[in-house]
Amino acid sequence: MGPSLTSSRTDVDALPFSVEVHVGPGDFRVEMARDVARGLSAASKELQPKYFYDARGSALFEQITETAEYYQTRTERSILERIAPEVITRHGIDEVVELGAGSARKTETLLRALHARNAAARYIPFDVDPHMLVDTAGRLSALLPGLSVHAVAGDFERHMATIPSPSGRRLIVFLGGTVGNFSPGARGGFISKVAQLMDPGDLLLVGTDLVGDVARIEAAYNDATGVTSDFNLNALRVLNRELGADFDLGHFVHDARYDHAQDCIEMFARATLAQRVRVEELGLDLAFAEGEEIRTEISCKFTRESVSQMYESGGLKLAEWHTDPNQWFAVSLAARD
Ligand code: SAH
Ligand code: AVI
Repeated sequence: MGPSLTSSRTDVDALPFSVEVHVGPGDFRVEMARDVARGLSAASKELQPKYFYDARGSALFEQITETAEYYQTRTERSILERIAPEVITRHGIDEVVELGAGSARKTETLLRALHARNAAARYIPFDVDPHMLVDTAGRLSALLPGLSVHAVAGDFERHMATIPSPSGRRLIVFLGGTVGNFSPGARGGFISKVAQLMDPGDLLLVGTDLVGDVARIEAAYNDATGVTSDFNLNALRVLNRELGADFDLGHFVHDARYDHAQDCIEMFARATLAQRVRVEELGLDLAFAEGEEIRTEISCKFTRESVSQMYESGGLKLAEWHTDPNQWFAVSLAARD
């Protein structure tokens, strides 16, 4: 976000990996202005979760993954460690594309198996935060010499078609439960766009957080150290910087609670007092009542059935289902018909 790599397509020859940038700062701000104007003018104010992830937001997310309460990352990692070699070898995978790659720490297990199969295989990490992406590409190229790393900085709701065509049997991965950050109505459309990146025989691997004990799930979004609160309010910090807003972060608090009707956690920034906020670049004056909330994220929880429906609504079929012994998290594979 607000990348220092400024051109719309930048190939940096001196690096041991290539980077394509489709989220130049100008473009990104125009999109953000449109989204934010719509979201904050609505009767129930909301922001899109992609605006958490500037360099600071990405670093805060990494800290969340290390909190005692956020079970999702370590649980998904344990499943991946168990299944990765088998997924890569049995399906004869030649390249991995990763959506919302972030630090790609968990992806390492898949990439080690890929690299062992073919040291010159290709890895395409795709993320909206170019800073994190460059760090990830650099780290993995150093870790797995010969691996061809082609990073793409873009918004997976707008730029997915810029991902290069498959160069062999492709595995697309979407980890962390990030698919749960789409509203239920938007998931099918997203999966069908992913399916367009796949040839017959290619696979999609998705991590999903599962429906379960509500107290455990709510605790994961209300950690005792307050890092999730910091991450949440970072969205307001981003609007202050990018759109000249004057949110006072001292006058908003974090809240996250389970919505039983939709089986998702909803995360909010709640005004602690009545106040006005100006968003200069949008010419927008907002009035907040005491207790009024901005919804900043939904994070849906799944069952095997809802994962299967998600794939079918996007034209794919559930092919494999892997969970941890507690059934807290699932890693599934989907194939084209
Ligand atoms: N895959 C990692 C990171 C998950 S955090 C993991 O499992 O731990 C979500 C990631 O998705 C972040 O890196 C964020 O920058 C990225 N992201 C969020 N919205 C995005 C969008 N619209 N397009 C591309 N990437 C996005
Ligand atoms: C990236 N995404 C799947 C995380 C989630 O759990 O929905 C983001 C997050 N929000 C708060 N904590 C972590």
